[in-house]
Amino acid sequence: MFLVGSLVVLCGLLAQSTAQLAGLPLPLGQGLPLPLGQGLPLPLGQGLPLAVSPALPSNPTDLLAGNFANALSGGLLSGGLLGILENIPLLDVIKSGGGSSNGLVGGLLGKLTSSVPLLNNILDIKITDPRLLELGLVQSPDGHRLYATIPLSLKLQVNMPVVGSFLQLAVKLNITAEIVAMKDNQGRIHLVLGDCTHSPGSLQITLLNGVTPVQSSLDSLTGILTKVLPELIQGKVCPLINGILSGLDVTLVHNIAELLIHGIQFVIKV
Ligand SMILES: *[C@@H]1O[C@H](CO)[C@@H](O)[C@H](O)[C@H]1NC(C)=O
Repeated sequence: MFLVGSLVVLCGLLAQSTAQLAGLPLPLGQGLPLPLGQGLPLPLGQGLPLAVSPALPSNPTDLLAGNFANALSGGLLSGGLLGILENIPLLDVIKSGGGSSNGLVGGLLGKLTSSVPLLNNILDIKITDPRLLELGLVQSPDGHRLYATIPLSLKLQVNMPVVGSFLQLAVKLNITAEIVAMKDNQGRIHLVLGDCTHSPGSLQITLLNGVTPVQSSLDSLTGILTKVLPELIQGKVCPLINGILSGLDVTLVHNIAELLIHGIQFVIKV
């Protein structure tokens, strides 16, 4: 049925252009649509481009957002995201930050003098079970930007005898990456990373195992993690996204960039 429909459209177009060539008024409401097999030869096999391709879904932009989200997720995973998260030297960072003021987060932890005894009691922190949850896409109201929400989860095994020998914490964090379309000097379109940060307030830390530690110690531990973890994770994830964007399928990039440049909404709001 679809094929017949597209042939009718083609015949109509041909009739129209033939009429225009002949300088005749269009036979509106009379000859259209042309009955198949009469009058005009079918253009099949004559090298004419098909005006309507029966193979395409009615609105291919519907698929773009999903394809893009999948490509980003796939790129993060194949780029080694989970291994990178698992190997963040969390304990080193915390200890160097707490012990001196020249660590990555020294300025932050230096003010938490009460946390130093606690830090000395942490024998080990292991990151396990890193996961990438379902990536979400949102388009800005003006249509020019995409925001990819990258939800991560992991577990921390904290060996800290003073609060109960072994604590297991579940951590969740959303990183939000802004993606925009840019033209380079040669006029080629790229998707590039804009802002890339953890979403404010999106860090969740929950105690998993049954041992109830001294509340104040647990509070200072979560206080330290809250200051250190989001920055650390963001520092690992954001550079990966830059690489993924430049390695994406050219057609996908081009299609998305065109829509962004023209501010056309294609991410369906959930
Ligand atoms: C991350 O974002 C998703 C949707 O954008 C939200 O449902 C989820 O609660 C957020 N997670 C955290 C840890 O804030």
